[in-house]
Amino acid sequence: MSIQWFPGHMTRARRQIQDKLKLIDVAIELLDARLPLSSRNPMIHEILGDKPRLIIMNKCDLADPEATAKWLEVFRKEGHAAIPVDASSGYNIQNIQVEARKLLEAKFERLIAKGLKPRPVRALIVGIPNVGKSTLINKLAGRQVAATGDRPGVTKGQQWIRVGSEMELLDTPGILWPKFEDQLVGYRLAVTGAIKDQVLNVEDIAFYALKFMSAHYWERLKERFELETPLHDIEDPNEIVSIMEEIGRKRGCLVSGGRVDLEKVSGIILRELRAGKMGQITLEHP
Ligand code: G4P
Repeated sequence: MSIQWFPGHMTRARRQIQDKLKLIDVAIELLDARLPLSSRNPMIHEILGDKPRLIIMNKCDLADPEATAKWLEVFRKEGHAAIPVDASSGYNIQNIQVEARKLLEAKFERLIAKGLKPRPVRALIVGIPNVGKSTLINKLAGRQVAATGDRPGVTKGQQWIRVGSEMELLDTPGILWPKFEDQLVGYRLAVTGAIKDQVLNVEDIAFYALKFMSAHYWERLKERFELETPLHDIEDPNEIVSIMEEIGRKRGCLVSGGRVDLEKVSGIILRELRAGKMGQITLEHP
């Protein structure tokens, strides 16, 4: 993770979000559609409380659409609004203000009945680093407003961005931490590139990715690298390493003596996976 999270950071991040919650009507929780569990903050329900919530499954362009549809059901059953979005291309972002507005319909009707003037819905985007907060804010604003790599605890002036006629968005997102004490969460975040390869060993991340692909998307893996290595038992680490070596030979990742450069091939496998070269993949299913 680009941010080193210490207890002090978490407390500060949480306080900052809770201060901002006082200003808004609806919280927009951004999740990575490929990892709806691991990209979720472990204290999210406590932090957001009963604030109306729109869950955005971002990077839906990279995720398995069937899995995304199932997750949307799960979140809607939890009582939240939920939609898939691709913040990079802008796919479905027009529905954000529509959904936010719907969540607030009853409250606004009550206010208008009391004689108050209609006003835009105020929203805040929250999510862990790299989930796409800045990309989405910039896309919604139609210009560069959010800097990437925000740090929790750095207070700067915040402004409202007008999104269409129905919504106003705070330009600084709420930055949350993932459940990083869980090693599996770390690996999954690393596979998607949310954690830098320098933090965990790149060969370990690629091993995890290959094992996952072998178990859940074997045909796609086989096709992508024209694999001949048979797969009998995914629990046998030697089989996964053999697959890695075959990919290495095919991609010319060799060192002296004809051995496979495992670090190099690991980099290739991860780059291709993250770029969607093996198709749309979801690492966590409901
Ligand atoms: P953050 O503010 O939450 O930390 O995330 P940020 O917007 O910086 O996005 C992190 C990375 O995720 C960026 O890629 C961004 O382009 C990418 N991204 C965001 N939303 C989507 C999406 O819906 N689909 C896809 N495919 N990618 C998305 P990067 O490699 O760090 O930078 P760059 O490639 O944009 O230069």
